[in-house]
Amino acid sequence: MDRITFYVNKEKCSVGSEVDSDTSLIDYIRNHLNLRGTKYMCKEGGCGACIVAVTLNDPEPRTFSVNSCLVSVTSCQDWEITTIEGIGDRSRGYHPVQKTLAEYDGSQCGYCSPGFVMSMYSLLESNHYDLTQYEIENSFGSNTCRCTGSRPILDAFKSFAN
Ligand code: FES
Ligand code: FES
Repeated sequence: MDRITFYVNKEKCSVGSEVDSDTSLIDYIRNHLNLRGTKYMCKEGGCGACIVAVTLNDPEPRTFSVNSCLVSVTSCQDWEITTIEGIGDRSRGYHPVQKTLAEYDGSQCGYCSPGFVMSMYSLLESNHYDLTQYEIENSFGSNTCRCTGSRPILDAFKSFAN
């Protein structure tokens, strides 16, 4: 197959026949790039643990949250992909979405947290940080938390509303 080029956290990736064409984006991110912050549970689009942010320039930049378990890596031509490692960490400082989730006790085991954070990050980016509480409340139907419960997570994220 032709080589597919895209970016993950601003690093250029080039994928060709050395990667199976049925490799999912989540497996590429975790197993080839060794970025283990993006999690998975169902691998069928039901839990949101694997969500990353994708920016397309067509021609204006638009950012979406994408379930990386549902996407073949061969579909990612020209995508600008951001994973949880790309927005903040202990050494560089955390992104406001990460900090706020912690301040509201919105993370317990933490397994769902990268997916929730990247959903919220994508939502803020795509709406230029102009959102109502109602819009935020109704934007997380594809994320699942099995231990904290959704309320503290949504309360944290609704603090970003205008
Ligand atoms: Fe559950 Fe992707 S792993 S939606
Ligand atoms: Fe454990 Fe959400 S904090 S699944």
